[in-house]
Amino acid sequence: MAAQVIDGKTIAKQIRDEVKQTVEHWRREQFVPGLAVVLVGDDPASATYVRNKEKACQEAGIYSEVHRLDASISEDELLRLVHTLNQRPDIHGILVQLPLPEHIRSERILDAVDPSKDVDGFHPVNAGKLLVGKPGIFPCTPLGVIELLKRQDVPIAGRHAVVVGRSNIVGKPAALLLLREHATVSVCHSRTPDLSAITRQADILVCAVGQPELIRGEMIKPGACVIDVGINRKPDGKLVGDVCFSEAVHVAGQITPVPGGVGPMTIAMLLKNTLACAQLQRSSV
Ligand code: GUN
Repeated sequence: MAAQVIDGKTIAKQIRDEVKQTVEHWRREQFVPGLAVVLVGDDPASATYVRNKEKACQEAGIYSEVHRLDASISEDELLRLVHTLNQRPDIHGILVQLPLPEHIRSERILDAVDPSKDVDGFHPVNAGKLLVGKPGIFPCTPLGVIELLKRQDVPIAGRHAVVVGRSNIVGKPAALLLLREHATVSVCHSRTPDLSAITRQADILVCAVGQPELIRGEMIKPGACVIDVGINRKPDGKLVGDVCFSEAVHVAGQITPVPGGVGPMTIAMLLKNTLACAQLQRSSV
């Protein structure tokens, strides 16, 4: 029997509607959440992501402003902008779109963002909070993965979750969030020998490596829930995930498509994180 295909677009829309309702309620109390997005250079993919984020804020009633800066901006100038945004009471969330130009040390910029305005959850203070199990702001894509599992009623506690990929943006935080939900977690990466021996044990398989169709049908445990975070463009222009969907759909119990799975969840969780940051600042004044 073919797997149930998880509709990330519909679930993301539900979340965006929930955010919109909260914002409407806050606006009636004269409180408007605000997000500042910083885009450096003219990378077309980044420009598209930023436009989508702007549009999503607008639809939800969140105030947003985009700082589009020339690729030649100096690290110090960019730092000054981050410091200014940190001080602004009308801006509750700050997002610095990555990648930054090579002459700028991304770490220095990301570490300068006030952790209570860190909508991406990339600041070491928030990463540390995730590690030790404290409340904090956590990365949007891994949060989207957990939200998909919960809204699909996929049980997590006590199940074996295997995360393929160990990036700071997806793999590591996804593993920690799954651990926080009481899964037994394995993390695999490029130096894992016999990858399929591990992936075949997964009740929940999260793939975030950026390698088109790396995960084949025979690497999946029958009935497993497969979450594909990868977005890769093949030479023919087709978008594919890290999972070979046409094979996996006959083995998995549930599977996210690409596009239309995890992708739409990232922006929905960015909106939720913006509200979480706004709430943090609102309750601290
Ligand atoms: N570039 C690609 N993905 C992301 C993301 O989630 N956040 C930021 N800030 N930049 C990105």
